[in-house]
Amino acid sequence: MKRKNLTLNPYRSNPENCPKTILTTGGAGFIGSNFIRYELENYDDITIINLDKLTYAGNLENLKDVEQKYGLSSLNQKPKTRDLKPNLRYFFVKGDICDRKLVDSLLSGEYFKKKGVGKGTHDAGHLTLDAVINFAAESHVDRSILDASPFIDTNIKGTQTLLEAAKTHWQNPGPGTRNLVSNIFLHISTDEVYGSLGKTGEFTENSPLQPNSPYSASKAGADLLCRSYYYAYNLPVIITRSSNNYGPYQFPEKLIPLIIKNALEHKELPVYGEGLNIRDWLYVKDNCRAIDLVFRKGDIGEVYNIGGENEIENIKVVKLICKILKANSKTQNLKPKTKLIADPRGKAHDFRYALDCSKIKKNLKWKPNCVFKEGLKNTIDWYLNNQDWIKKVITGEYKQYYKKLYK
Ligand code: NAD
Ligand code: DAU
Repeated sequence: MKRKNLTLNPYRSNPENCPKTILTTGGAGFIGSNFIRYELENYDDITIINLDKLTYAGNLENLKDVEQKYGLSSLNQKPKTRDLKPNLRYFFVKGDICDRKLVDSLLSGEYFKKKGVGKGTHDAGHLTLDAVINFAAESHVDRSILDASPFIDTNIKGTQTLLEAAKTHWQNPGPGTRNLVSNIFLHISTDEVYGSLGKTGEFTENSPLQPNSPYSASKAGADLLCRSYYYAYNLPVIITRSSNNYGPYQFPEKLIPLIIKNALEHKELPVYGEGLNIRDWLYVKDNCRAIDLVFRKGDIGEVYNIGGENEIENIKVVKLICKILKANSKTQNLKPKTKLIADPRGKAHDFRYALDCSKIKKNLKWKPNCVFKEGLKNTIDWYLNNQDWIKKVITGEYKQYYKKLYK
């Protein structure tokens, strides 16, 4: 999408306008938590407000280190020297992106003003938001086939609530607002909006949207709503569509962490159908780097594909995990068994995704750095070293869901 006046990202034209206070939604989930850590570690002049409903997929365990280093709990740590200020740059707010009142109070700065926190932050406690990065979503295809309703609420209604609030506040700025030109609404979409490919071909940013599951249909709805707010209201929207992410902190209902967890627990490794569906795997840290580049340097009104350039059949992913486990002295005695099971997705199971990423490569000089085998090894090591995390994020709800899907 392209339009007349407002295409250049204000951050690129004037680095002074770089965002200072960012609302990330869904930051307690997999990609959001990795992204918040990435931003706070790489930029010391930003503050992040993380709005998350803490559904089954959102977990504050994912951000424990961030909270201790940059959050309110950092205030309890005694500074080493008298004049060293606490590094207060991260705030968590539990709430729903569909809650317009809450979203309004965050965007206007009222929320933090009332709470009286935020003093000592870069804008003297106003914490008025320069930018929104929308990660929040119901994100699991299998769950969307069991019950589509929460997907419509969060992915469509929630995104529209954020868009509408941003439109209202950024067009009628309150006293705390720094600089209108510097607002950005970055929406995290997915390659699944394009639908499925056969054995060949790649989706470009201009490919038609042909989603096949309630999840991808709801993401396509959100994606198109973002586009419409750019055209109808000049809202400074940018969209990313990435391929399958993997890495630390991914909830163990998705293929890679589920297979690792089951192998460690001596359970069978469930593979849908013959395991011949193909996904393009992207290491989450490569995606965070891409999202950051799009946020700071991408052009407004544009869509950016982000792919791992690593297409592989599901069955081969599972075999590779088993091979890595076998080569590790801690897990070499495991005897994981793959089980081909009836495909719970039926016709909604997209055969293959592949992205043409020439736009982000050429315009923003990004490319994926992580080789799949290395990334997978790191990921397995992370899960091995964080088995407590697995125990903490798994609840009775997960066990019920697992029983229902893998009966
Ligand atoms: P996730 O399921 O791990 O996390 C989603 C987060 O959103 C959770 O913390 C959850 O509590 C929160 N959330 C859900 N509903 C909410 C609501 N109504 N209000 C506030 N917070 C809410 O998801 P993820 O894998 O980290 O994906 C993040 C985003 O990236 C999603 O928009 C997803 O569609 C997109 N995406 C994911 C992948 C992938 O491979 N994981 C690939 C491409 C795009
Ligand atoms: O492509 C981007 C999308 O990738 C994101 O938009 C989604 O949020 C994310 O969940 C992911 O969707 P997939 O459906 O591709 O990911 P998942 O890990 O659920 O499944 C990957 C493949 O593995 C898929 O072909 C189904 C298969 N699978 C999955 C599970 C959970 C199995 O064979 N067995 C399993 O137990």
